[in-house]
Order: sequence, then structure tokens, then C-alpha cells
Amino acid sequence: MNVQLDPHAKTENHPIDHFRLDVLEGLKNSPKRLSSKYFYDKIGDHLFQQIMAMPEYYLTRCELDIFKNKTQELTDLIIPENEPFDLIELGAGDAMKSTFLLKHLVERGLEFTYMPIDISGNILSILNEKLSTQFPDMPVTCLEGDYFDMLQKAASLSDRRKVILFLGSNIGNMNPEEAQSFCLSLNQNLSSGDRVLIGFDLKKNPHVILNAYNDKEGITAAFNLNLLTRINNELGGNFDREQFQHYQTYDPVSGACRSFLVSLKKQEVIIGRDRISFEENELIDMEISQKFSAEHIAELGEKSGFITAGEIKDSKEWFVDTIWQVK
Ligand code: AVJ
Repeated sequence: MNVQLDPHAKTENHPIDHFRLDVLEGLKNSPKRLSSKYFYDKIGDHLFQQIMAMPEYYLTRCELDIFKNKTQELTDLIIPENEPFDLIELGAGDAMKSTFLLKHLVERGLEFTYMPIDISGNILSILNEKLSTQFPDMPVTCLEGDYFDMLQKAASLSDRRKVILFLGSNIGNMNPEEAQSFCLSLNQNLSSGDRVLIGFDLKKNPHVILNAYNDKEGITAAFNLNLLTRINNELGGNFDREQFQHYQTYDPVSGACRSFLVSLKKQEVIIGRDRISFEENELIDMEISQKFSAEHIAELGEKSGFITAGEIKDSKEWFVDTIWQVK
């Protein structure tokens, strides 16, 4: 038998509980931290859909403007040569924006395989179903798993040129150092001439940014508080949501938009066998949504071994899709 030492390996009896380990580890820090990558359970997915529909949350509309109205420009930048290629989308979800690009590529008769990568197999099967109806002749290979594992898988499946999509300013959920090492790994997992298209939310009037993450209805607050509920349900926690309050900040100098939960009293919370104590007004650092300047984006690309091929902004110039090529 071939025994593999894979840290992500799951066996039926002892699934490695990364969620529990990350939560407990994060709550040992000062300030306490929880990772926003765990926001997206079923309720979290639904709350994020509601966020995207809020008038204050401009990001989706801006990038949709680019994908709907500047599709030919996008095409020219991602595939300058008329060679067959693989179009790989990181965290594809429902592929709402990229569908406009797919339609354009299919209509032009370009030869490519669409490879959506997502950690949710459920989301991928829904997407696969939708795509087979909408584009019956477009080859689709769904890749379920970790981004970099699946990029290697994609490389092993074909030696065609790769074009990677990483949309929605998802890169903003990494702090600047993490984003830098992510781009470097991306570069190292690709070959010379491959291209990436990354969506970055730009710095703009700070009120506009803060409002997008501090809505009056409290949807963003619920999105953050839902992680406490998820911990209660999945890890045997007893967080009282009423005793935590959402607090949002935006620093227009660094471009960091951050969310916190504030403990409203001195309290103890149980998570399985562990006890966590909170002082009154103690913080949990929940999420960063980094906003970028043109200089910051250029530096990120250069330091990761890319050459800038071009960029496309929405009509308000609030959001940019940047295209880099591997040197
Ligand atoms: C999905 C990471 C792009 O940071 O803007 C929305 C998540 N958080 N409102 C973002 C989010 C609060 C979103 N991204």
C-alpha cells in the first residue's frame, strides 16, 4: 500500500480538525484573532450574497462593469496569442462575473478548458451543472481542493498555457505580507508566459469604503457574528452573540479596512474542552479587506516575478483587474 504523509489527510476515524486548531490557536494571540476564511458556511454564504446586494457594497458592481463592458479588452490581455489555453479560476463560487468572459471566449470560438477551483465540492457541482446547460460544448474540469494543490493538478493535466483568475479583491483578505507570499507562490506554481488576472479594490474616498463594510442594517455585523455561531454549532462552543459587538475601521493611509468583535463584558466562553476568557472591551481581530494603490499593486507584481501586461478599471475607477505575465 502506498502510504502518504499528507498533513491535510483525512481518515474516516480521525478527521484532522483544522477548524478547531485554527480557532483555538487564533484565540491565544494578542489581540485574539479568528480567520475570515471560516465565515463561509451555509449561513455565511447567504449573508455574503446579501452583502453583495447592498447598495453600499460597490465592489461587485464595479468588477461586473469590467467583465460585462470591457470583455474584449480583457480577452486581448489574457490571451495575446491565439493558442489553446486553460482558464483556471481560484475560488470560482458561482462564477457570476467570469461567465461574461466565458460567453465571449466561446462565441469567438477560442479553444480552452475552464477549470474552476474551489474548496466546496457542493458549489462546484452546482456550477458544473449550470455551465453544461449554458455552454454545452465548453470543456470544464472542476478541481476541488486547496488552490496550490489544484494548480499543480492542473499543470499535470495539460501543458497548455495557463490563465489564472483571482477576482473580487479576495486578495484583500490577506494582510500585505501574506499577499506578497501568495503572489510569489502563484508565480512559482506557473510557467514562463502564463498569465494571471487579479481583482484589486482601490483606495478611494474613505467614507465610501467604510460605508461598504459598516452597513446600517447590520448585515456585515451578522456576517462577522455568524462565525461565533458556527463555532458554537461545530466546535461545541457557547458564545453569546449578544455579548459581542461588531466594530469596523478603515485606515486611509495603509489602506487596511478591518473588522473586530468587541467583548461587551468580562466573560468566559467554552469551546469543547477549552475555556477562553475575555476582558471587557477585549477585541477579536476578524477580517482585513485591504485597499490598494497603483504603486502597491506594481510592487507586489514585481517582487513576485511578474511583468505587468495591462490593467482594466471600471468606469468609476474604483476597482482594477490587473493582468500579469510570468517572466
Ligand atoms: C469576499 C473578501 C471580497 O473583503 O470585501 C465583504 C468579504 N467582508 N464584507 C471583502 C467581505 C465584509 C469580501 N471579499
